[in-house]
Amino acid sequence: MSSVSDLVNHQVRLAARPVGLPGPEAWEHTTEPVADPADGQFIVRISHISLDPAMRGWMNAGRSYVPPVEIGAVMRAFAAGEVIVSAHPGFAVGDHVTGTFGAQEYAVSDGAGVQKVDPSAVPMPTYLALLGMTGMTAYFGLFDVGALKEGETVVVSAAAGAVGSVVGQLAKIKGCRVVGIAGGPEKCAWLVEELGFDVAVDYRSDDVKKALRAAAPDGVDVYFDNVGGEILDIALTRLRHGARVPICGAISTYNATGPQPGPSNYMSLLVNRARTEGFLVFDYVDRFPEAAAEMAGWLREGKLQSREDVVPGTVADFPDTLLRLFRGENTGKLVLELTG
Ligand SMILES: NC(=O)c1ccc[n+]([C@@H]2O[C@H](COP(=O)([O-])OP(=O)(O)OC[C@H]3O[C@@H](n4cnc5c(N)ncnc54)[C@H](OP(=O)(O)O)[C@@H]3O)[C@@H](O)[C@H]2O)c1
Repeated sequence: MSSVSDLVNHQVRLAARPVGLPGPEAWEHTTEPVADPADGQFIVRISHISLDPAMRGWMNAGRSYVPPVEIGAVMRAFAAGEVIVSAHPGFAVGDHVTGTFGAQEYAVSDGAGVQKVDPSAVPMPTYLALLGMTGMTAYFGLFDVGALKEGETVVVSAAAGAVGSVVGQLAKIKGCRVVGIAGGPEKCAWLVEELGFDVAVDYRSDDVKKALRAAAPDGVDVYFDNVGGEILDIALTRLRHGARVPICGAISTYNATGPQPGPSNYMSLLVNRARTEGFLVFDYVDRFPEAAAEMAGWLREGKLQSREDVVPGTVADFPDTLLRLFRGENTGKLVLELTG
């Protein structure tokens, strides 16, 4: 294709900073023509958009690890797609790529932060899941921050989600006892029957404190925290001497409309000489290739599964699809596939 001027780009922009769950008033749906790329740029037709709990934080004003999405800007989103026009020496038409392309159908890129991927090796959504940011988060959070050792006892929350499901599988590869905490019987059955977790605790119906005591009677070496709140507080009571608590996220608080209480059981860290540490996957970018190569090997050998929850739709479905994360409606990595 030599010109893209006949193409129309449908986009989702941030219209207002939400209070609580982002409803329709948070979003604006816009269209604009696709422009030809300037020298050093290329155009990507986006096929898959990643849905991430972090997006809720990016919609807020205030200081964080990245600047907030500005009102009126296309919503920030990781995505995958194909180069359709290029004026960049490093990217050719037909290259498949991932990057921070936004919640839209077409993106202009100068190549910064863009990875080339091979859709003949694994399906495109896997590059947003196990072999993308999600898998990297699990890998570095567990192995680096969690300093996991063979045979330890690991508990992970949001265990049937994108990051959590990889954390548990990685810990099983290292011969650990793995306990997952997730919402609902189907998710819990999937963790044990398909992914090989030792125990799954349904936090919606089980007494989590009792269930953790039964599942890990000698205590927990690594609690990988994806949810914060009450579950973090309970997990702290089960730490063993020298335990590690990587703080990956706190999805139970992301839509809170007021201040959230901190964990009241934090003195367990002192008593058990344990440590907790927050981390950001972006700090490990230089080491992504090493982790991706190892995980791709485990995937080929059948030691790891990548489950993607692919929702077909248009870019206009982005706002509703995002809400599925906060309703617990996804199993594995939530991805919006642009079908038309
Ligand atoms: N630090 C980093 O660099 C980094 C990078 C990526 C992700 N993260 C964090 O990792 C966590 C998981 O992200 P993900 O992409 O893998 O999402 P995900 O787990 O695939 O999706 C979110 C899941 O969280 C659970 N959830 C929602 N509301 C909850 C609540 N109030 N209490 C308990 N669980 C709740 C739901 O599962 P249930 O049905 O089980 O409730 C839902 O399916 C998030 O906290 C995210 O912010 C951090």
